[in-house]
Amino acid sequence: MLNNQGRPTAPAANDAGAAHPTFTGNRALMQEEALLFEIGRLETTGVDIPAPKTTKQRLGGLARKGEIGLPGLSEPETMRHFVRLSQKNYGIDTGLFPLGSCTMKHNPRLNEKMARLPGIGDIHPLQPVSTVQGALDLMQELSRWLLAFTNMEAVALSPKAGAHGELCGMMAIRAAIEAKGEAATRNVVLVPESAHGTNPATAALIGFQVKPVPAREDGWVHVEDLKPLLGPDVAAIMLTNPNTCGLFEPQVKEIADAMHGAGAYFYCDGANFNAIVGKARPGDLGVDAMHINLHKTFSTPHGGGGPGAGPVVLSKRLAPYAPVPFVTRDGASFDLVEHETDARAGESFGRMTAFHGQMGMYVRALSYMLSHGADGCRQASEDAVLTAHYVRAGLSDVMSLPFGDKPCMHEALFDDVWLKDTGVTTLDFAKAMIDEGYHPMTMYFPLVVHGAMLIEPTESESKASLDLFIAAMRDLAFAAKRGDVERFSGAPYHAPRRRLDETKAARSPVLKWTPPKPVAPTQKAAE
Ligand SMILES: Cc1ncc(COP(=O)(O)O)c(C=O)c1O
Repeated sequence: MLNNQGRPTAPAANDAGAAHPTFTGNRALMQEEALLFEIGRLETTGVDIPAPKTTKQRLGGLARKGEIGLPGLSEPETMRHFVRLSQKNYGIDTGLFPLGSCTMKHNPRLNEKMARLPGIGDIHPLQPVSTVQGALDLMQELSRWLLAFTNMEAVALSPKAGAHGELCGMMAIRAAIEAKGEAATRNVVLVPESAHGTNPATAALIGFQVKPVPAREDGWVHVEDLKPLLGPDVAAIMLTNPNTCGLFEPQVKEIADAMHGAGAYFYCDGANFNAIVGKARPGDLGVDAMHINLHKTFSTPHGGGGPGAGPVVLSKRLAPYAPVPFVTRDGASFDLVEHETDARAGESFGRMTAFHGQMGMYVRALSYMLSHGADGCRQASEDAVLTAHYVRAGLSDVMSLPFGDKPCMHEALFDDVWLKDTGVTTLDFAKAMIDEGYHPMTMYFPLVVHGAMLIEPTESESKASLDLFIAAMRDLAFAAKRGDVERFSGAPYHAPRRRLDETKAARSPVLKWTPPKPVAPTQKAAE
């Protein structure tokens, strides 16, 4: 079978597809989409510009000797290719997206409207400061909200995401340690075993030695486990709160005191800040630095539209080391401090980004804050916790909870004990969720929980949507328990592509496209 580009169609996507193959390979609205390399033609182009007049080339031996083989498409073909791909995407605008530790919540359209206002969308980072006073005002206002929510001293807006924020906070900690003349001795960073992989990676990237804090059965970090690790060599702890098990750390204050008592700093991974906005302020808990993923807590889009934003709030002890640039205000006029030599006491650790950060995300986050108000932001956190409890309560009699009845925060964590002897794994279960039209939850994270399934429904889901999700999950759980292994082992059956061979993909990845061998005319006719 050949598709409309004269190429063999991909394997049937689902049972109906296999039983009733189509000539094109399309299945009604589910259209096949080949690679650009497969559908493009060398002689085609979407632009029609005259060939440049021959000028003397000065590339010498570096000049291209032949065609580079980039495929060409007309404008409508290009358009269709990307629109079809976009239709295969699963996003928060398609359905419930319960990916734990990611906060896939609704991105209000009002925020999009604000970000596209010409006075914001059309400005350029190299414009003179006198012409972008409104934008600087907006950045200061966003900072003011972030500082109020966190009770911290300073904020660095420029980091582009959570992991970049971690780097920023840890560089501020390193700068503070250097300023105290302890750089040679304080080189250890403590990281709980339940941490997100970016935490140890960040610490290691800037030259710290990572020491794990052992996990406990109850999912919490205990100050008694920490104390034996503390010494003059410890620079900081990187602790997530609420933690990656979906629990609030009850000893967070004692942990902060122990770190400070040992002359070290407390970096808080704020990925889960969305559970406590308006309820607890990190500054009151002894945090020295924390990133805030605007794309999680304050509803800006996750990727797709360019880089995100992961502002970092800093305590009084770390504020002098904040990176440049930052906005200053003198009466009604705003300015930018661009060079570390001009920053406060000249102690800034430097610059992390070319310009000032991701303005579009600042606008969306501030729009979210202003339209919700401080009380609305607190309500969003309360509702995020409520929805997680609702899902947990709806599933806890059929799936197993690793930490018993302990109240969760904004995400419900299950393990795979309940799947024992069913022949179904966490991965199989997740694939069957795809058939039900759901993006799977976060799987196998945190690593300290066997076969973890971390579900974060978020506050944007209605009760009806949660009820349907719970009912679908229960149906799958009962199917697993009654031994309907086939529903899982071959899933997804209804997705455009069936299950990938993950071992083969990891062991022999195909990283380069190679043109297929031309099909001989007689063979083609037979097909
Ligand atoms: C606990 C935790 N820390 C850090 C990160 C990294 O954040 P980002 O993806 O914004 O870089 C994540 C991302 O999911 C996370 O869940």
